[in-house]
Amino acid sequence: MATILDMALGQAGSTDPLICHCFQVTASAIRQAIDEGGAARVEEVSRLTAAGSGCGSCQCRIERLLAGLPAECGPCALCPGCGSVRTLCDCHAA
Ligand code: FES
Repeated sequence: MATILDMALGQAGSTDPLICHCFQVTASAIRQAIDEGGAARVEEVSRLTAAGSGCGSCQCRIERLLAGLPAECGPCALCPGCGSVRTLCDCHAA
């Protein structure tokens, strides 16, 4: 049986990182919205995938993907313990 830590480690090592925790949207889904859906702004990515339309804390990562950069950007990275955005995380696992 996989533990929460196993899932977090699997996510951290994934080649398709989770970008939006609220709606479980991965980087590949956002890239598909950009490449195939023609999304050029966060609002358009949100319309196509729902990413960024909840708490909004993933919008900086979506902006980075729109700019062709890696999604991870320090304080916006996801906590390996709970999967929440680190700046909002209070699980103290990071
Ligand atoms: S993490 Fe994407 S809207 Fe909350």
